Amino acid sequence: MVRPARNVRGSVRLPGDKSISHRYAMLSGIAEGPSRLENYSTGADCASTLGCMRSLGVTWERKDKDNDGAANTIEVQGRNLALAAPANALDCGNSGSTMRMLSGIVAGQTFTSEMVGDESLSRRPMARVITPLSTMGAQIASREGKPPLRITGATLKAIDYKMPVASAQVKSCLLFAGLLADGETRIEEPLRTRDHGEVALRAFGAKLDRKSSGNGNEIRIRGGQCLRGIEARIPGDLSSAAFFMCAAALFPGSQLTIPNLLMNPTRARLLDVLMQIGLRISVTQLEEIHGELVGALQVEGGRLTQATIAGADSAALIDEIPVLAAIAPYTEQGIEVLDAKELRVKESDRIAAVATNLRLMGAQVEEREDGFKIPGGQTLHGAELDSFSDHRIAMAFAVAALRAEGETLIRGAEAAAISYPAFFQTLEEVTER
Ligand code: S3P
Repeated sequence: MVRPARNVRGSVRLPGDKSISHRYAMLSGIAEGPSRLENYSTGADCASTLGCMRSLGVTWERKDKDNDGAANTIEVQGRNLALAAPANALDCGNSGSTMRMLSGIVAGQTFTSEMVGDESLSRRPMARVITPLSTMGAQIASREGKPPLRITGATLKAIDYKMPVASAQVKSCLLFAGLLADGETRIEEPLRTRDHGEVALRAFGAKLDRKSSGNGNEIRIRGGQCLRGIEARIPGDLSSAAFFMCAAALFPGSQLTIPNLLMNPTRARLLDVLMQIGLRISVTQLEEIHGELVGALQVEGGRLTQATIAGADSAALIDEIPVLAAIAPYTEQGIEVLDAKELRVKESDRIAAVATNLRLMGAQVEEREDGFKIPGGQTLHGAELDSFSDHRIAMAFAVAALRAEGETLIRGAEAAAISYPAFFQTLEEVTER
Protein backbone atom coordinates (compact mmCIF):
# COMPACT_ATOMS: atom_id res chain seq x y z
CA MET A 1 0.00 0.00 0.00
CA VAL A 2 1.50 3.39 -0.96
CA ARG A 3 0.15 6.56 0.70
CA PRO A 4 0.39 10.06 -0.78
CA ALA A 5 3.40 12.12 0.32
CA ARG A 6 4.17 15.80 0.86
CA ASN A 7 7.87 15.81 0.04
CA VAL A 8 10.93 13.71 -0.66
CA ARG A 9 13.98 14.51 1.45
CA GLY A 10 17.15 12.83 2.59
CA SER A 11 20.01 10.76 1.30
CA VAL A 12 19.82 7.46 -0.56
CA ARG A 13 22.73 5.05 -0.94
CA LEU A 14 22.05 2.69 -3.82
CA PRO A 15 23.12 -0.91 -4.32
CA GLY A 16 25.57 -1.50 -7.16
CA ASP A 17 24.50 -1.03 -10.75
CA LYS A 18 22.75 -4.07 -12.21
CA SER A 19 24.29 -3.82 -15.70
CA ILE A 20 27.82 -3.56 -14.31
CA SER A 21 27.29 -6.28 -11.67
CA HIS A 22 26.23 -8.83 -14.32
CA ARG A 23 29.21 -8.04 -16.52
CA TYR A 24 31.76 -8.07 -13.68
CA ALA A 25 30.41 -11.40 -12.40
CA MET A 26 30.71 -12.98 -15.86
CA LEU A 27 34.12 -11.52 -16.70
CA SER A 28 35.63 -12.28 -13.29
CA GLY A 29 34.57 -15.91 -13.83
CA ILE A 30 36.54 -16.14 -17.08
CA ALA A 31 39.45 -13.96 -15.94
CA GLU A 32 42.74 -15.25 -14.61
CA GLY A 33 43.11 -14.95 -10.82
CA PRO A 34 40.80 -13.61 -8.12
CA SER A 35 38.42 -10.63 -8.31
CA ARG A 36 36.77 -8.70 -5.50
CA LEU A 37 33.48 -6.97 -6.34
CA GLU A 38 32.24 -4.55 -3.68
CA ASN A 39 28.67 -3.17 -3.63
CA TYR A 40 27.48 -5.96 -5.95
CA SER A 41 23.82 -5.50 -6.96
CA THR A 42 21.38 -6.86 -4.37
CA GLY A 43 18.83 -7.70 -7.07
CA ALA A 44 17.63 -11.24 -7.76
CA ASP A 45 18.73 -10.87 -11.40
CA CYS A 46 22.39 -10.48 -10.47
CA ALA A 47 22.05 -13.41 -8.07
CA SER A 48 20.84 -15.45 -11.08
CA THR A 49 24.07 -14.59 -12.89
CA LEU A 50 26.14 -15.68 -9.88
CA GLY A 51 24.13 -18.91 -9.66
CA CYS A 52 24.83 -19.68 -13.33
CA MET A 53 28.55 -18.93 -12.89
CA ARG A 54 28.66 -21.40 -9.98
CA SER A 55 26.97 -24.04 -12.17
CA LEU A 56 29.72 -23.38 -14.73
CA GLY A 57 32.42 -24.27 -12.19
CA VAL A 58 33.29 -20.78 -10.93
CA THR A 59 33.86 -20.56 -7.17
CA TRP A 60 32.78 -17.36 -5.43
CA GLU A 61 31.89 -16.27 -1.93
CA ARG A 62 29.93 -13.42 -0.33
CA LYS A 63 31.97 -11.44 2.22
CA ASP A 64 31.49 -8.62 4.75
CA LYS A 65 28.20 -8.70 6.54
CA ASP A 66 27.31 -5.04 7.08
CA ASN A 67 24.86 -3.59 9.65
CA ASP A 68 21.80 -4.68 7.68
CA GLY A 69 23.11 -8.22 7.57
CA ALA A 70 23.67 -7.77 3.84
CA ALA A 71 26.75 -9.29 2.25
CA ASN A 72 27.38 -7.35 -0.91
CA THR A 73 31.04 -8.05 -1.55
CA ILE A 74 31.67 -11.00 -3.83
CA GLU A 75 35.05 -12.68 -4.16
CA VAL A 76 35.40 -14.71 -7.34
CA GLN A 77 38.10 -17.17 -8.43
CA GLY A 78 38.50 -16.87 -12.18
CA ARG A 79 38.91 -19.90 -14.47
CA ASN A 80 40.93 -18.23 -17.23
CA LEU A 81 38.42 -18.55 -20.12
CA ALA A 82 37.62 -22.27 -19.66
CA LEU A 83 34.41 -23.00 -17.76
CA ALA A 84 33.17 -26.43 -16.61
CA ALA A 85 30.22 -28.29 -18.14
CA PRO A 86 27.13 -27.63 -15.98
CA ALA A 87 25.40 -30.63 -14.41
CA ASN A 88 21.98 -28.98 -14.66
CA ALA A 89 20.24 -26.30 -16.71
CA LEU A 90 21.51 -22.76 -16.12
CA ASP A 91 18.63 -20.99 -14.40
CA CYS A 92 18.49 -17.34 -15.53
CA GLY A 93 15.29 -16.64 -13.55
CA ASN A 94 13.75 -13.36 -14.76
CA SER A 95 17.01 -12.04 -16.15
CA GLY A 96 17.27 -11.32 -19.88
CA SER A 97 20.74 -9.88 -19.26
CA THR A 98 21.96 -13.19 -17.81
CA MET A 99 20.63 -15.30 -20.65
CA ARG A 100 21.69 -13.00 -23.49
CA MET A 101 25.16 -12.07 -22.26
CA LEU A 102 26.13 -15.44 -20.83
CA SER A 103 25.06 -17.15 -24.07
CA GLY A 104 28.07 -15.39 -25.68
CA ILE A 105 30.40 -17.02 -23.17
CA VAL A 106 28.96 -20.55 -23.17
CA ALA A 107 28.87 -20.48 -27.01
CA GLY A 108 32.69 -20.47 -26.94
CA GLN A 109 33.07 -23.41 -24.52
CA THR A 110 33.65 -27.06 -25.34
CA PHE A 111 30.36 -28.35 -23.87
CA THR A 112 26.60 -28.08 -24.24
CA SER A 113 24.57 -25.96 -21.84
CA GLU A 114 20.87 -25.45 -21.43
CA MET A 115 19.61 -22.03 -20.38
CA VAL A 116 16.15 -21.67 -18.85
CA GLY A 117 14.13 -18.80 -17.44
CA ASP A 118 10.87 -17.98 -15.65
CA GLU A 119 7.55 -17.46 -17.43
CA SER A 120 8.33 -13.86 -18.41
CA LEU A 121 11.85 -14.61 -19.67
CA SER A 122 10.49 -17.61 -21.60
CA ARG A 123 8.41 -15.19 -23.70
CA ARG A 124 11.31 -12.86 -24.58
CA PRO A 125 13.06 -12.76 -27.97
CA MET A 126 16.43 -14.53 -28.19
CA ALA A 127 16.87 -14.64 -31.98
CA ARG A 128 18.89 -11.47 -31.61
CA VAL A 129 21.68 -13.53 -29.98
CA ILE A 130 20.94 -16.89 -31.64
CA THR A 131 21.45 -15.57 -35.20
CA PRO A 132 24.93 -14.03 -34.77
CA LEU A 133 26.21 -16.74 -32.38
CA SER A 134 25.13 -19.41 -34.88
CA THR A 135 27.02 -17.57 -37.63
CA MET A 136 30.07 -17.70 -35.36
CA GLY A 137 29.74 -21.48 -35.20
CA ALA A 138 27.70 -22.32 -32.08
CA GLN A 139 24.77 -24.71 -32.41
CA ILE A 140 21.70 -23.32 -30.71
CA ALA A 141 18.28 -24.90 -30.33
CA SER A 142 15.37 -22.82 -29.00
CA ARG A 143 11.59 -22.76 -28.91
CA GLU A 144 11.13 -20.66 -32.08
CA GLY A 145 13.62 -18.03 -31.00
CA LYS A 146 12.51 -18.06 -27.36
CA PRO A 147 13.96 -19.80 -24.27
CA PRO A 148 14.89 -22.42 -23.25
CA LEU A 149 18.15 -22.36 -25.23
CA ARG A 150 20.38 -25.38 -25.76
CA ILE A 151 23.80 -24.13 -26.74
CA THR A 152 26.51 -26.44 -28.03
CA GLY A 153 29.76 -24.53 -27.87
CA ALA A 154 32.42 -24.49 -30.58
CA THR A 155 35.69 -22.90 -31.53
CA LEU A 156 34.02 -19.70 -32.63
CA LYS A 157 34.92 -17.77 -35.77
CA ALA A 158 35.11 -13.98 -35.62
CA ILE A 159 32.15 -12.14 -37.12
CA ASP A 160 31.54 -8.82 -38.84
CA TYR A 161 28.05 -7.99 -37.65
CA LYS A 162 25.66 -5.10 -38.07
CA MET A 163 23.16 -5.38 -35.22
CA PRO A 164 19.56 -4.90 -36.43
CA VAL A 165 18.30 -3.98 -32.92
CA ALA A 166 20.00 -1.41 -30.66
CA SER A 167 20.70 -3.61 -27.61
CA ALA A 168 23.57 -3.39 -25.15
CA GLN A 169 22.89 -6.96 -24.03
CA VAL A 170 23.41 -8.26 -27.56
CA LYS A 171 26.50 -6.08 -28.03
CA SER A 172 28.05 -7.45 -24.81
CA CYS A 173 27.09 -11.02 -25.76
CA LEU A 174 28.96 -10.66 -29.07
CA LEU A 175 31.97 -8.96 -27.52
CA PHE A 176 32.26 -11.80 -25.01
CA ALA A 177 31.92 -14.35 -27.81
CA GLY A 178 34.45 -12.33 -29.84
CA LEU A 179 36.93 -12.62 -27.00
CA LEU A 180 36.70 -16.42 -27.29
CA ALA A 181 36.75 -16.49 -31.12
CA ASP A 182 39.53 -16.88 -33.68
CA GLY A 183 40.26 -13.56 -35.41
CA GLU A 184 38.88 -10.06 -35.00
CA THR A 185 35.17 -9.52 -34.39
CA ARG A 186 33.58 -6.27 -35.59
CA ILE A 187 30.21 -5.17 -34.25
CA GLU A 188 28.24 -2.20 -35.48
CA GLU A 189 25.29 -0.86 -33.50
CA PRO A 190 22.61 1.34 -35.10
CA LEU A 191 22.39 3.64 -32.06
CA ARG A 192 24.88 4.06 -29.28
CA THR A 193 23.77 1.92 -26.33
CA ARG A 194 25.23 1.63 -22.82
CA ASP A 195 28.93 0.75 -23.03
CA HIS A 196 29.48 -1.18 -19.79
CA GLY A 197 30.57 -4.28 -21.75
CA GLU A 198 33.35 -2.35 -23.47
CA VAL A 199 34.37 -0.52 -20.27
CA ALA A 200 34.39 -3.76 -18.24
CA LEU A 201 36.40 -5.70 -20.83
CA ARG A 202 39.03 -2.94 -20.73
CA ALA A 203 39.00 -2.95 -16.92
CA PHE A 204 39.78 -6.69 -17.01
CA GLY A 205 42.69 -5.97 -19.37
CA ALA A 206 41.27 -6.64 -22.85
CA LYS A 207 42.00 -4.31 -25.76
CA LEU A 208 39.22 -3.07 -28.03
CA ASP A 209 38.93 -0.39 -30.69
CA ARG A 210 35.96 1.87 -31.03
CA LYS A 211 34.87 4.25 -33.76
CA SER A 212 31.75 6.43 -33.50
CA SER A 213 29.94 7.69 -36.56
CA GLY A 214 26.77 9.79 -36.24
CA ASN A 215 24.49 8.03 -33.77
CA GLY A 216 26.12 4.68 -34.49
CA ASN A 217 29.14 2.96 -33.11
CA GLU A 218 31.62 0.31 -34.24
CA ILE A 219 33.66 -1.90 -31.90
CA ARG A 220 36.40 -4.41 -32.73
CA ILE A 221 37.80 -7.08 -30.42
CA ARG A 222 40.50 -9.65 -31.12
CA GLY A 223 39.94 -13.18 -29.86
CA GLY A 224 42.29 -15.07 -27.56
CA GLN A 225 43.07 -12.19 -25.18
CA CYS A 226 43.42 -13.08 -21.51
CA LEU A 227 41.54 -11.22 -18.80
CA ARG A 228 43.00 -10.38 -15.37
CA GLY A 229 40.86 -10.28 -12.20
CA ILE A 230 40.06 -6.86 -10.69
CA GLU A 231 39.18 -5.27 -7.36
CA ALA A 232 36.27 -2.91 -7.82
CA ARG A 233 33.59 -0.97 -5.98
CA ILE A 234 30.49 -0.99 -8.15
CA PRO A 235 28.82 2.45 -8.46
CA GLY A 236 25.20 2.90 -7.33
CA ASP A 237 22.55 1.93 -9.89
CA LEU A 238 21.39 4.94 -11.90
CA SER A 239 18.22 3.20 -13.12
CA SER A 240 17.25 2.52 -9.49
CA ALA A 241 18.11 6.13 -8.59
CA ALA A 242 15.65 7.17 -11.31
CA PHE A 243 12.71 6.20 -9.08
CA PHE A 244 13.88 8.49 -6.26
CA MET A 245 14.77 11.31 -8.63
CA CYS A 246 11.32 11.14 -10.20
CA ALA A 247 9.69 10.90 -6.75
CA ALA A 248 11.60 14.07 -5.78
CA ALA A 249 10.43 15.72 -9.00
CA LEU A 250 6.82 15.45 -7.83
CA PHE A 251 7.24 18.02 -5.04
CA PRO A 252 8.76 21.52 -5.38
CA GLY A 253 10.20 21.29 -1.84
CA SER A 254 12.10 18.03 -2.40
CA GLN A 255 15.80 17.75 -1.60
CA LEU A 256 17.63 14.54 -2.20
CA THR A 257 21.29 13.48 -2.16
CA ILE A 258 22.62 10.31 -3.77
CA PRO A 259 26.32 9.55 -3.15
CA ASN A 260 28.43 7.11 -5.17
CA LEU A 261 26.12 7.10 -8.17
CA LEU A 262 26.98 5.80 -11.63
CA MET A 263 27.34 8.73 -14.07
CA ASN A 264 28.36 6.86 -17.23
CA PRO A 265 27.36 9.22 -20.08
CA THR A 266 25.61 6.38 -21.95
CA ARG A 267 23.27 6.00 -18.96
CA ALA A 268 22.93 9.57 -17.71
CA ARG A 269 20.48 10.95 -20.30
CA LEU A 270 17.85 10.93 -17.53
CA LEU A 271 19.67 13.78 -15.79
CA ASP A 272 19.37 15.97 -18.90
CA VAL A 273 15.68 15.14 -19.33
CA LEU A 274 14.84 15.83 -15.69
CA MET A 275 16.74 19.13 -15.79
CA GLN A 276 14.93 20.04 -18.99
CA ILE A 277 11.59 19.25 -17.32
CA GLY A 278 12.39 21.49 -14.35
CA LEU A 279 14.40 19.68 -11.68
CA ARG A 280 17.55 21.28 -10.30
CA ILE A 281 20.39 18.76 -10.37
CA SER A 282 24.04 19.13 -9.48
CA VAL A 283 26.84 16.59 -9.51
CA THR A 284 29.95 16.77 -7.31
CA GLN A 285 32.85 14.48 -6.38
CA LEU A 286 33.21 13.07 -9.89
CA GLU A 287 35.76 10.28 -10.17
CA GLU A 288 36.47 7.38 -12.49
CA ILE A 289 36.59 3.82 -11.17
CA HIS A 290 37.73 1.16 -13.65
CA GLY A 291 36.59 3.41 -16.49
CA GLU A 292 33.12 4.09 -15.04
CA LEU A 293 32.26 7.65 -14.05
CA VAL A 294 30.88 8.02 -10.51
CA GLY A 295 29.64 11.11 -8.62
CA ALA A 296 27.41 12.48 -5.88
CA LEU A 297 24.06 13.81 -7.02
CA GLN A 298 21.95 16.55 -5.46
CA VAL A 299 18.37 17.00 -6.62
CA GLU A 300 15.91 19.79 -5.82
CA GLY A 301 12.28 19.87 -6.88
CA GLY A 302 10.85 22.60 -9.12
CA ARG A 303 8.04 23.20 -11.62
CA LEU A 304 7.66 20.34 -14.08
CA THR A 305 7.13 21.41 -17.68
CA GLN A 306 7.19 18.81 -20.48
CA ALA A 307 9.37 16.44 -22.50
CA THR A 308 9.42 14.57 -25.79
CA ILE A 309 11.58 11.46 -25.88
CA ALA A 310 12.41 10.04 -29.31
CA GLY A 311 15.10 8.41 -31.46
CA ALA A 312 18.44 7.76 -29.77
CA ASP A 313 17.04 9.14 -26.47
CA SER A 314 14.40 6.40 -26.35
CA ALA A 315 17.13 3.74 -26.56
CA ALA A 316 19.27 5.55 -23.96
CA LEU A 317 16.33 5.91 -21.55
CA ILE A 318 14.71 2.54 -22.15
CA ASP A 319 14.73 1.48 -18.46
CA GLU A 320 13.68 4.91 -17.18
CA ILE A 321 10.68 5.48 -19.47
CA PRO A 322 8.19 3.68 -17.17
CA VAL A 323 8.93 6.02 -14.27
CA LEU A 324 8.98 9.09 -16.53
CA ALA A 325 5.53 7.99 -17.71
CA ALA A 326 4.44 7.65 -14.09
CA ILE A 327 5.22 11.31 -13.36
CA ALA A 328 4.01 12.58 -16.76
CA PRO A 329 0.40 13.38 -15.72
CA TYR A 330 1.75 15.65 -12.97
CA THR A 331 3.86 17.75 -15.36
CA GLU A 332 2.37 20.92 -16.85
CA GLN A 333 2.25 19.90 -20.53
CA GLY A 334 2.84 16.16 -20.41
CA ILE A 335 5.36 13.69 -21.80
CA GLU A 336 5.41 12.04 -25.22
CA VAL A 337 7.50 8.94 -25.98
CA LEU A 338 8.20 7.74 -29.54
CA ASP A 339 10.52 5.07 -31.04
CA ALA A 340 10.38 2.88 -27.93
CA LYS A 341 8.76 -0.32 -29.23
CA GLU A 342 11.45 -2.39 -27.43
CA LEU A 343 9.42 -1.61 -24.29
CA ARG A 344 6.88 -4.16 -25.51
CA VAL A 345 9.39 -7.04 -25.11
CA LYS A 346 10.86 -6.21 -21.69
CA GLU A 347 9.97 -8.10 -18.46
CA SER A 348 6.37 -7.14 -19.33
CA ASP A 349 4.84 -5.20 -22.22
CA ARG A 350 5.76 -1.94 -20.53
CA ILE A 351 3.73 0.27 -22.89
CA ALA A 352 0.54 -1.66 -22.13
CA ALA A 353 1.37 -1.92 -18.40
CA VAL A 354 1.96 1.83 -18.08
CA ALA A 355 -1.25 2.69 -19.98
CA THR A 356 -3.36 0.21 -17.97
CA ASN A 357 -2.13 1.42 -14.57
CA LEU A 358 -2.31 5.13 -15.41
CA ARG A 359 -5.90 4.68 -16.63
CA LEU A 360 -6.80 2.82 -13.43
CA MET A 361 -5.59 5.92 -11.56
CA GLY A 362 -7.92 8.05 -13.68
CA ALA A 363 -5.34 9.42 -16.12
CA GLN A 364 -5.78 10.03 -19.81
CA VAL A 365 -3.19 8.22 -21.94
CA GLU A 366 -2.84 7.80 -25.68
CA GLU A 367 -1.18 4.42 -26.21
CA ARG A 368 0.75 3.87 -29.44
CA GLU A 369 2.63 0.91 -30.91
CA ASP A 370 6.02 2.48 -30.10
CA GLY A 371 5.21 4.66 -27.09
CA PHE A 372 2.55 6.96 -25.67
CA LYS A 373 1.41 10.52 -25.20
CA ILE A 374 0.43 11.47 -21.67
CA PRO A 375 -1.12 14.92 -21.22
CA GLY A 376 0.00 17.01 -18.25
CA GLY A 377 -2.02 18.85 -15.61
CA GLN A 378 -3.97 15.75 -14.53
CA THR A 379 -5.17 14.77 -11.06
CA LEU A 380 -4.84 11.05 -10.29
CA HIS A 381 -6.53 8.96 -7.65
CA GLY A 382 -5.23 5.98 -5.71
CA ALA A 383 -6.24 2.63 -7.19
CA GLU A 384 -5.61 -1.10 -7.16
CA LEU A 385 -2.82 -1.72 -9.69
CA ASP A 386 -0.79 -4.65 -11.00
CA SER A 387 2.99 -4.86 -11.30
CA PHE A 388 2.57 -7.34 -14.19
CA SER A 389 5.40 -9.17 -12.35
CA ASP A 390 7.75 -6.45 -13.60
CA HIS A 391 10.11 -4.74 -11.14
CA ARG A 392 10.23 -1.43 -12.97
CA ILE A 393 6.42 -1.23 -13.25
CA ALA A 394 6.05 -1.95 -9.49
CA MET A 395 8.51 0.82 -8.59
CA ALA A 396 7.25 3.33 -11.19
CA PHE A 397 3.72 3.14 -9.82
CA ALA A 398 4.86 3.44 -6.22
CA VAL A 399 6.21 6.81 -7.42
CA ALA A 400 2.97 7.75 -9.25
CA ALA A 401 1.04 6.92 -6.06
CA LEU A 402 2.95 9.54 -4.03
CA ARG A 403 1.01 12.39 -5.65
CA ALA A 404 -2.34 10.67 -6.16
CA GLU A 405 -5.38 11.35 -4.02
CA GLY A 406 -5.88 8.38 -1.67
CA GLU A 407 -3.97 5.14 -1.26
CA THR A 408 -2.68 2.82 -3.97
CA LEU A 409 -2.32 -0.93 -3.79
CA ILE A 410 0.20 -2.53 -6.13
CA ARG A 411 -0.39 -6.25 -6.58
CA GLY A 412 2.84 -8.19 -7.10
CA ALA A 413 4.93 -5.30 -5.71
CA GLU A 414 7.49 -7.87 -4.51
CA ALA A 415 8.72 -7.94 -8.15
CA ALA A 416 10.84 -4.90 -7.14
CA ALA A 417 13.31 -7.41 -5.65
CA ILE A 418 14.41 -8.36 -9.18
CA SER A 419 16.59 -5.25 -9.21
CA TYR A 420 16.12 -3.58 -5.83
CA PRO A 421 14.87 -5.57 -2.79
CA ALA A 422 15.07 -2.61 -0.35
CA PHE A 423 13.16 -0.22 -2.63
CA PHE A 424 9.92 0.16 -0.63
CA GLN A 425 11.76 0.50 2.67
CA THR A 426 14.09 3.18 1.27
CA LEU A 427 11.17 5.03 -0.37
CA GLU A 428 9.42 5.09 3.01
CA GLU A 429 12.55 6.54 4.63
CA VAL A 430 12.78 9.52 2.27
CA THR A 431 9.11 10.45 1.92
CA GLU A 432 7.52 13.00 4.24
CA ARG A 433 3.83 12.79 4.87
C1 S3P B 1 20.77 -3.81 -20.32
C2 S3P B 1 20.34 -3.35 -21.53
C3 S3P B 1 18.94 -3.03 -21.81
C4 S3P B 1 18.16 -2.83 -20.53
C5 S3P B 1 18.40 -3.90 -19.51
C6 S3P B 1 19.87 -3.98 -19.16
C7 S3P B 1 22.19 -4.12 -20.17
O1 S3P B 1 18.37 -4.09 -22.54
O2 S3P B 1 16.77 -2.73 -20.80
O3 S3P B 1 17.67 -3.63 -18.34
O4 S3P B 1 22.68 -4.29 -19.03
O5 S3P B 1 22.87 -4.21 -21.19
P1 S3P B 1 18.59 -4.23 -24.12
O6 S3P B 1 20.03 -4.34 -24.33
O7 S3P B 1 17.89 -5.48 -24.53
O8 S3P B 1 17.97 -3.00 -24.70
